[in-house]
This record gives sequence, structure tokens and C-alpha cells, in this order.
Amino acid sequence: MKKPTIVSGIQPTGRLHLGNYLGALKNFVALQDSGEYNCIFFIADFHSLTIDFDPKQKQRQIFDLVNAYLAAGLNPKKSLIFAQSQAPDCAELAWILNTITPIGELERMTQYKDKAKENKENINAGLFTYPALMAADIIMYDAAFVPVGEDQVQHLEFTRMISRKFNNKFGQTFIETKPLLTKTARLMSLNDPEKKMSKSIPNGCLFLDDSPAEIEKKIKTAVTDSGSEVKYDAQNKPGISNLLDIYSALTEKSVSEIENKYKGKNYGQFKSDLAKIAVDALEPFRTNKTSDAKIKSILGAAAKKAQKMSAAKMKEVKNKLGLLN
Ligand code: AMP
Ligand code: TRP
Repeated sequence: MKKPTIVSGIQPTGRLHLGNYLGALKNFVALQDSGEYNCIFFIADFHSLTIDFDPKQKQRQIFDLVNAYLAAGLNPKKSLIFAQSQAPDCAELAWILNTITPIGELERMTQYKDKAKENKENINAGLFTYPALMAADIIMYDAAFVPVGEDQVQHLEFTRMISRKFNNKFGQTFIETKPLLTKTARLMSLNDPEKKMSKSIPNGCLFLDDSPAEIEKKIKTAVTDSGSEVKYDAQNKPGISNLLDIYSALTEKSVSEIENKYKGKNYGQFKSDLAKIAVDALEPFRTNKTSDAKIKSILGAAAKKAQKMSAAKMKEVKNKLGLLN
């Protein structure tokens, strides 16, 4: 039997943080290594054009993101790693999906509302129709599952809605996808555990390529709660609970195991151990660098394979719509 397909992507918009890693990228690697799926992990460069950017930086951002994929353990022999813009049929499919997308569905999207608030001087149509392009990325390749952080679940519900709508209108063409979430699908900011870790609050982010000294400093100064007991309580002790989540995800130890280990000890010891764990876990991101030439060749070869798949799907779509092929 054919293996189910997994698709996910990350936007090349700057440095990745621990939320991206524990919510998404680490899971990409586990899914790849399970051998149970056909894996597609692309660079969402078309999506990244929806917020202000410097064209001189874009290629560097794309290469850096591929570097992070490879440092995390993605293997181009096992997974298809390409840039969205080099397999651009998704944009064509997104156009078609736009024509069956009710505007009201787009207006509900929290990511759109948040980003429109953050970038008041550049609320562009691409930002608004972003979910149609994301849906196209996914259903183009018949993805059964999409590993992402919790903030993307609403976009996946949109994806299911739009594929159902297409199938009902034009005949069975797309499968309905499902999200795959990790236990840390919503990592919180280190300096404000009420907010999710996000590039828009850089001080609360542990960046994957932070120096050991920066990692130590950020963890040691992470906001914790009054009291001194290392105990999980997301309601009343969100700071220490977030750090416990990080500790647990990086060591694969259960939270109760960690609580036991620190019984009678204070936050200081716990934080200093966690800093060491994070410094070690993130080492590959500081040291493993792949040359730009090698990355270009990985992306180029994978884009060709992706294009072959998308061309076949677009043929079917155009037939269903009564367009010429
Ligand atoms: P972004 O950097 O927003 O493009 O996100 C890339 C991936 O990381 C997506 O799958 C997000 O859902 C995930 N992600 C972003 N922030 C977090 C967070 N704070 N906790 C868990 N996952 C996250
Ligand atoms: N919207 C995702 C994010 O902001 C990136 C993305 C674009 C994506 N297309 C996708 C993720 C398809 C999964 C599948 O993180």
C-alpha cells in the first residue's frame, strides 16, 4: 500500500526559535525517520512575501531555513525539500481555490487579524488570501497529515472546508487533511508566559542559533512565578510550567519524572540544568552549516520532483473545471 503523505512548510522570514523547533521542526524529523510517510517539507517563500521584506535578504533567509532543516536532521534523500516558488503550480491552484472561498471565512482567520494589526501599513490582499495558498500547498500533494504548531490549526480547518467544497462542486479530487500536533504545540514566551513564543517578541524567544551564553542568560532570566517549587500548574504557574514543557520536550522525560528530580530543590538549580540541556540540544544549529551550492542543488532536484506531482494534479483539476489542458 502507498504510504500516506505528509506536507509542511515554514516561512523564510528570519531566525527560527524554540517554538518552531518543538512545535514543528522536531516533529518533521521524527515523522521522516519513522519511515511511515512520504514526506514533503518545503520553504514557504511565496507566503513570506505577504509581510514587508528586503529582496536583498530573501535568498539568505531561504538558505538559512534549509540549513536549519538539515541541521535538525531532515535528509534530502528521505524527504522532499524544495522552495515553493520553484514548484509554483501551488499559486495556480490557490487562484482556483480563491474563486470558491467565501470572504467571510478569510475574515475570521486569527493569523490574518493578528498580522494586519502588527503591519497596519501593509495589509495586502496576499495576507488576506494566505489560507487559500496554504490549502493549495497541502491538497496539491494529497497530504493526509500536516505537522504544525497549534496556531496553524485554523488554517487546516479552512483547508478541509475548501477541499470538501471543491469535491462537492466539481467531483472527488482532493483528500481531507488532518493536523499533527506535538505536546508543545504552543510554546510560550520566556519573558511573558501568557503569550506564545513568537518572533514579534524577540526577547522572549530562544533562537535556535543563539550562542551558549545567550541561551543561559535567557533561561536564567526567564519569568517564573512566585514560590520556589518546580511543579507543573499551567494556570497558576505558567512560567515554570512552560520551562517544564521545554525540559520535557528536549529530554523526552515526562513532566512528573522531572518534578520528582527537583523535589526540594529550587528554581535556580532547575534553570541551570535546563540551560545546559538547551545548549547541548541546539548545538547542531550553531555548528552544522551546509554550503549554499549544496543547498541550491538539493532544492533544484526536489523542485523537479514536486513539479511532476503538481503537474499531474493540475491536469486533473483543470479537467474537472472544464479548462483546457
Ligand atoms: P512561523 O514561524 O510562524 O512560520 O511558524 C512555523 C511553524 O512553527 C508552524 O508550524 C507554527 O505553528 C510553529 N510555531 C510557531 N510558533 C510556535 C510556538 N510558540 N509554539 C509551537 N509551535 C510554534
Ligand atoms: N502558514 C504556515 C506558517 O505560518 C506556513 C505554511 C504555508 C504551511 N503553507 C503550509 C504549513 C502548508 C503547513 C502546510 O507557519
